[in-house]
Amino acid sequence: MTESRAFPRFPAGFVFGAATASYQIEGAAREDGRGPSIWDTYSHAPGLVANGDTGDIACDHYHRYPEGVALLRELGVDSYRFSIAWPRIVPDGSGPVNPKGLDFYARLVDELLAAGIEPAATLYHWDLPQALEDRGGWRVRETAERFAEYTAVVAGHLADRVPRWITLNEPWCSAFLGYSVGRHAPGAREGRGALAAAHHLLVGHGRAVEALRAAGVREAGITLNLDRNLPATGSAADRAAVVRADTQHNLVWTEPLLAGRYPHTEEETWGELITGQDFRRDGDLALIGQPLDFLGINYYRPIVVADAPHREPDPALRTATDNRYAEVRLAGARHTAMDWPVVPDSFTDLLVALKERYGDALPPIHITENGSAEHDEVSPDGAVHDRDRVAYLRDHLTALKAALDAGVDVRGYYVWSLLDNFEWAFGYGKRFGIVRVDYDTQRRTPKDSYHWYRAMIAAQRD
Ligand code: FCB
Repeated sequence: MTESRAFPRFPAGFVFGAATASYQIEGAAREDGRGPSIWDTYSHAPGLVANGDTGDIACDHYHRYPEGVALLRELGVDSYRFSIAWPRIVPDGSGPVNPKGLDFYARLVDELLAAGIEPAATLYHWDLPQALEDRGGWRVRETAERFAEYTAVVAGHLADRVPRWITLNEPWCSAFLGYSVGRHAPGAREGRGALAAAHHLLVGHGRAVEALRAAGVREAGITLNLDRNLPATGSAADRAAVVRADTQHNLVWTEPLLAGRYPHTEEETWGELITGQDFRRDGDLALIGQPLDFLGINYYRPIVVADAPHREPDPALRTATDNRYAEVRLAGARHTAMDWPVVPDSFTDLLVALKERYGDALPPIHITENGSAEHDEVSPDGAVHDRDRVAYLRDHLTALKAALDAGVDVRGYYVWSLLDNFEWAFGYGKRFGIVRVDYDTQRRTPKDSYHWYRAMIAAQRD
């Protein structure tokens, strides 16, 4: 059997892409008028990011973007998903716009278009201007308004050249890792503050969609990291824990976005934290639930959930993620360098279940991230034979094709990530790239997974 026959086959017009995010690759943190973001503050605080790593230099993509675009062209992708750093555009979060920041993204977009690659821009991949966090961050509604203003500026500048726009990347991480677990910037551990953040992120999304429509963009959507939560056992307690996990990870986003309501399970999930939600206003659901052209989904792994007692019995100290469930290690599965289990079937199941739940209210889907961190080694010949990552990508693309065959309308797939990069609280120790980055020399080396993905894309066009 030739290798190409082993590739899953996707319908004509299916979009293949690669993804990155601003803070993870750009560096140039203090250049050309960029203001500080919450991730600059968080990564510079002692002890929060592994190895004391920061995004100050990262992959130096701010200066080396032509090399990035050349790698994308050689890869043969249809589209490149990148994110725009809000603090490059509006350094203080409100007020003056920084023309040099806009210029950088205009140059990147022009370079992509010249290479025949469609840009897909994410407006918020977690780098909130620090000045806005100082005024309350996503806990306060004002941040949603500033987000809409920033969106209008960027879309006004780039809407003619960027067809696909993503408002927020994984708001679950912004709200809950950022304001409840404290493992992401700004590192808060709160109850109602995190729930208010979740709501204001959705309001910000709705206001940004309005701004994108006003600018006449072709496609507007949002990216969620929906989770497949599996019960550790068949017990009633574990199944109830799955409901609480589902509420926090999935329903808090999909119900307002796709069904025009708040999750009916929120009281059993958050108890008194969600009562008297004074941050919600009349009209918010209509704003949040505006029709979308696509839903972005990032998928990496399933989560096995077990019932667990309250970690914090004092209600005053309860965070929003003290939902009385714990993650259990999945026996028998291979685990990646993130210690995430590899279960491609659950990718298919997630998409099919979403279609079953929302039916025609589900917009077309783009998989905006999928990939794996592995323990890469550079061989004596300089190559990176990342067989585990190749297997991961092949098996997940095959699982994705199974979802298409089951009737789920998926239009595109973006591998995470083009380059090894700053993996948030894990720093540079976790490598997700299909291209290796040597952080001492900034040398880029395509790994075997890059060559495999390239051949897979080429095979679609045979
Ligand atoms: C997602 C993020 C992305 C990257 C991958 C591994 O949660 O959107 O920036 O860190 O995980």
